[in-house]
Amino acid sequence: MKRTLVVGDLNVDIIASGMSLFPELGREILCSDIRTVLGGSASIFACRLAQLGSKVDILGKVGNDEYGRTVLNALKSNGVGIDKVIVKDDLRTGVTISLTYPENKALITFMGSIGALEKSDVKPEVFKGYGHLHISSIYLQPKLLNSLSEIFAEAKEQGLVTSLDPQCDPQGKYEKIWEILEYTDIFLPNGDEAMDITGTTNVSSALKKLGLKVKAVVIKCGCEGAVGMANGEIVNVKAFKIKPIDTTGAGDSFDAGFIYYFVHKNKSLRDSIIFANAVGALACLRIGGAEGKITEGEALNFIIGQKC
Ligand SMILES: Nc1ncnc2c1ncn2[C@@H]1O[C@H](COP(=O)(O)OP(=O)(O)OP(=O)(O)O)[C@@H](O)[C@H]1O
Ligand SMILES: [Mg+2]
Repeated sequence: MKRTLVVGDLNVDIIASGMSLFPELGREILCSDIRTVLGGSASIFACRLAQLGSKVDILGKVGNDEYGRTVLNALKSNGVGIDKVIVKDDLRTGVTISLTYPENKALITFMGSIGALEKSDVKPEVFKGYGHLHISSIYLQPKLLNSLSEIFAEAKEQGLVTSLDPQCDPQGKYEKIWEILEYTDIFLPNGDEAMDITGTTNVSSALKKLGLKVKAVVIKCGCEGAVGMANGEIVNVKAFKIKPIDTTGAGDSFDAGFIYYFVHKNKSLRDSIIFANAVGALACLRIGGAEGKITEGEALNFIIGQKC
């Protein structure tokens, strides 16, 4: 099986859940739980992929502080290699406060170390020994964005399969994306991201535009499931019917499920999307992006159980 290197955001999520109202200025509301867990699109993806059974290392930055240690311990306990994580004395680890409601969430992020990765942190030698590179949340990496197409090109030159989850661009500009897609094998945006990037108003037009650019594109559509295109084949798979508790990290968990099946196990586009939908749905039934280990066996049992 190919060893994966993940590059991107590492932070903690402080998740408040079980509120019956939305907060208002000048008022206090109660919640039923608050927990501090591993956050960051790249780190959640890495943990889920390792939980499924792949060999994964991560490259990102944290501060030399309590939250940084929380991040490192969580990665380690999920079996993700942390030798390439850079710990900086002069940075504070990034934090996202998430007010989570069953179908959606409101987020406040302190960037701290999240946006501190630079081109010089991702040297060409770093890809040695890997078969796959995944990068997430590129619009939270302002110092890396201009170099990403070069980084992906170098990885491809060295024979790695490349995958990308852009996550949303808070500015909505999606700069550099088409240059990066030139060297991307598998592209994993959600519906809004895909439409904004392609300037289209529906997911199926976005899919066709992106499908002409990369080897495989899968667009995540929340409770509606996902659509994908590879080698001219278009596949549309409905989501599993669940009552979500917390959708944090559903997209990253989906990505891990898809990469595990499509890249690491060479399964078909359809089977890989079904498997990814199961991992995404299971992630929605846990509080926290990477909490509660999801194994291949659990995902397969879930798929069988849903068919009955
Ligand atoms: N309510 C739901 N019911 C069933 N499955 C869901 C639900 N929400 C998400 N999923 C599963 O998780 C996948 C990814 O979710 P979503 O489309 O929200 O990704 P995203 O917007 O990239 O999420 P993220 O906020 O984690 O980046 C979906 O394609 C689906 O398989
Ligand atoms: Mg996403």
